[in-house]
Amino acid sequence: MLFEKLIRPALYRLSSDDAEAVHERTIRVLSAAAPALGVLRRRYGVDDPVTVFGLRFPNRVGLAAGMDKDGRALGAWPSLGFGFVEVGTVTRLAQPGNPKPRLFALPTSDAVINRMGFNNAGADALARKLATEKAHSKPVVVGVSIGKSKVVPLEDAVADYQASLRSLYPYADYFAINVSSPNTPGLRSLQDKSQLAELLDELNGTAASLAGGGTPTPLLVKVAPDLSDTALAEVLEVCDTHGVAGLIATNTTLSREGLAPGDAPTGEEAGGLSGRPLAARAREVVRFVHERTEGKLPIIGVGGIFSGTDARRMLDAGASLVQVYTGFALKGPGLIREINRALAGRRIMGSSGASR
Ligand SMILES: Cc1cc2nc3c(=O)[nH]c(=O)nc-3n(C[C@H](O)[C@H](O)[C@H](O)COP(=O)(O)O)c2cc1C
Repeated sequence: MLFEKLIRPALYRLSSDDAEAVHERTIRVLSAAAPALGVLRRRYGVDDPVTVFGLRFPNRVGLAAGMDKDGRALGAWPSLGFGFVEVGTVTRLAQPGNPKPRLFALPTSDAVINRMGFNNAGADALARKLATEKAHSKPVVVGVSIGKSKVVPLEDAVADYQASLRSLYPYADYFAINVSSPNTPGLRSLQDKSQLAELLDELNGTAASLAGGGTPTPLLVKVAPDLSDTALAEVLEVCDTHGVAGLIATNTTLSREGLAPGDAPTGEEAGGLSGRPLAARAREVVRFVHERTEGKLPIIGVGGIFSGTDARRMLDAGASLVQVYTGFALKGPGLIREINRALAGRRIMGSSGASR
């Protein structure tokens, strides 16, 4: 089996010093092998269609943002069992990200710390890539995550996001507005009530004009797990008044709670923590959002999903869809199949955002 024999051993070397080189190699292998990977679909693919915020997803399990930032391996993900892929985060301007090393494995804790800093080839490059993929038939729901270019001052953030939205508008099934990465200075302040309201106002206006009288592409907001209940309630208020289609909860955390003692030294690295230690908090945020919005705002639950049971618990907390990053990096597509099987046929309780 390709993954077990070739890819997983490489991924497990995430515990080696150059975790990013392994990631890069994996994306390159998947990209090159994508046309041949269709055969894996029989092994990993699960049809369990569901409609959420007006989009029909082949199943509920998505690849979280950051794994395939520039959409290089787009053709591979459906063969590994994913029902949707969130590419990005991209920024209007291509940028190199933070200096290396910037990706750290914490193997005993099933966790990763990253401070990549939105390394990406830019919104226009992704648009060109997605245009090519689309010409070859788009096999999967594609969300596009957009963020702020590092060199653009915070006060000019709105125009920067708008430019990315414009460039990518024809190719996205939904947009994720990333205001929650801890690795771009000041970015998380865009979750503040007035700044978020202004950003969403302008992005809604842009999306409406690009839709030319049709239904605009859904805009979702991705939040940090480190917001207080009060701050999160304010985000929800703004999302409600601005017709946001859904929430993605959560991004990585600045907290270092739950790390195994053996990982303590690496745990001191700056950046966002993902993986198993994030699971409980991500679920808590999902539950808070679900209860506050009385199930009216569809939620994509992400953070520390390592098993079918974890994913079921995310849905029980109120998510309509789930995404996986760290769990997939460590366990491979067998995890995606396990999650899909655990969720298949399951009805979502009280979530008006989802229907089968
Ligand atoms: C190396 C790495 C890069 C990431 N890059 C992004 C990104 O560009 N945009 C984003 O919204 N989230 C990014 N994330 C966060 C993930 O999408 C996800 O929200 C988080 O890792 C929690 O899920 P997990 O525990 O399954 O990894 C990144 C995570 C990792 C580990």
